Amino acid sequence: MSFERVIGMESKTLPVMQGDYQLRDYEQTAKDFKWSEAEKEFSWHETGLINIAHEAVDRHANSYRKNKVALFYKDANRKETYTFHEMKRMSNKAANVLRNHSSLDKGDRLFVFMPRSPELYFAILGALKMGTIVGPLFEAFMEGAVFDRLSDSEAKAVVTTPELVSRIPIDKLPHLKTIFLVGDNIEEDSKFIDFNKHLKEASPYFQVEWLERESPTLLHYTSGSTGKPKGVLHVQEAMVQQLQTAKWVMDLKDEDVFWCTADPGWVTGTAYGIFGPMLAGATSLILGGRFSTDSWYESIQEYGVTVWYSAPTAFRMLMGAGAGPLEKYDLSSLRHILSVGEPLNPEVIRWGMEVFNLRIHDTWWMTETGAQTICNFGSLPIKPGSMGKPVPGIEAAIVDDRGQILRPNQMGNLAIKKGWPAMMRQIWNNPEKYDSYFLNNEWYVSGDSAYMDEDGYFFFQGRVDDVIMTSGERVGPFEVESKLLEHPAIVEAGVIGKPDPVRGEIIKAFIALHEGYEPSEELADAIKQFVKKELAAHAAPREIEFKDKLPKTRSGKIMRRVLKAWELNLPVGDLSTMED
Ligand code: PRX
Repeated sequence: MSFERVIGMESKTLPVMQGDYQLRDYEQTAKDFKWSEAEKEFSWHETGLINIAHEAVDRHANSYRKNKVALFYKDANRKETYTFHEMKRMSNKAANVLRNHSSLDKGDRLFVFMPRSPELYFAILGALKMGTIVGPLFEAFMEGAVFDRLSDSEAKAVVTTPELVSRIPIDKLPHLKTIFLVGDNIEEDSKFIDFNKHLKEASPYFQVEWLERESPTLLHYTSGSTGKPKGVLHVQEAMVQQLQTAKWVMDLKDEDVFWCTADPGWVTGTAYGIFGPMLAGATSLILGGRFSTDSWYESIQEYGVTVWYSAPTAFRMLMGAGAGPLEKYDLSSLRHILSVGEPLNPEVIRWGMEVFNLRIHDTWWMTETGAQTICNFGSLPIKPGSMGKPVPGIEAAIVDDRGQILRPNQMGNLAIKKGWPAMMRQIWNNPEKYDSYFLNNEWYVSGDSAYMDEDGYFFFQGRVDDVIMTSGERVGPFEVESKLLEHPAIVEAGVIGKPDPVRGEIIKAFIALHEGYEPSEELADAIKQFVKKELAAHAAPREIEFKDKLPKTRSGKIMRRVLKAWELNLPVGDLSTMED
């Protein structure tokens, strides 16, 4: 890749705005800070008794925050409020339901596979109170995607809804013993359990399991450029960084109402949709349902949201909706806005300044990092186009392929020094894969390319591999290609991310057909539907181009790099490994 600023930024910085930010002196803190200081706030610092759900909920329920709102929940049909005390009771009840109606034990895997609702949060917190590992599954996943994740992790139980349960191929999952159904009039038997019925009856008392700081908590499956999705395992200690970033990056204070728009199926929706704000004792808003300009703005007004965490695609969609909807709502409660998941275009930052009179703060991190690592802080000037500086306590660098640190302004691998608190601790069932992320057992290599300027600001340049970020969601091309190859008409498939002004990237598939099949619009539509039905709507190609043959290496690997060059009218580069 050439050395250029791919997202077209400006050199002008945005100065610090008025605000009493918790991180006041970045440089000094970055020099002095030790993670052990951040632990002092947790009760386990004194008791030695560790459980993230206790720290996020019960600790506050046993304090002056007892009757403070922990959660506002709203969707088209429900509007509910839960204090920390009520969250403690509901998560205890959920823990009792899970324990009493399954054989789930410490370290077993329970998946949650359902749309956002209060019960989803009770179930996650309840399971964590038992020491069960929680695997969150995005509700859009279809049978193939569900199967891969449940079978790789040998999941013992799932919490889901009657609408989604048919996507779980129960007969093919011998380890899956119990299905908790969240709905009405559930018919029970030895396998299917009515979650809500038992939740009502369950005791609100539960003895939390006390664990180790290295005990596992969450298993988030995510995509790479090769192979099936992999299970990224996080541990209790992640809470140290989640709390500290909730304070320094999101600047959460007691009086804040915080809204993270991400679904818990993705890491943002757990680390900051649940833990960051709850560990900080702030009030969270959870909005169910899908994106809609009006309901988003209306909810900010209704709940007086002060701190808002979302993604560039969402901001671009709001931007596209224009000034009309903005005029209808009073959004003046907002005081701090943050973004994650894709490059934040300067254009969006400019829009934020115009309509909210606030800077949008970019944050960079990944499923594997478990919490924010490189960010724009309230107390630092923003360079539009830069994701900011490392969180104090994090050592980030640009390294070459051998792990040598590069000079400012040289492009290379964005890497983090091993050992930060929220770092993933395992790839499920795949120790070799885990080790392959670390260069010289020292640097975690992110798969992103970037450079750092003379002032220590990091600039994202792109993925080193073929991973696609579409609407902020991470999709592995291999998973989509494998699914395409199951379609009877398809003999070869190659999938790339194609730049898109709203979604960041869209998925484009190049396809060669078996003899007897002819390219047509109907066939392209049928193929898109096939992936939608079998994998997930967000993983389905939005564009399909038929080719007689796809570029392959001599060993038969599709050369996505060449497909991308075709698409973007770029030089195709070295073709020496290509078959004739
Ligand atoms: O390419 C980077 C992009 O999202 C990838 C991680 O995806 P995921 O594990 O799904 O986590 C997303 C949210 C935590 C990264 O390798 N990415 C994340 N944040 C940014 C970003 N790209 C540019 N700017 C960001 N701020």
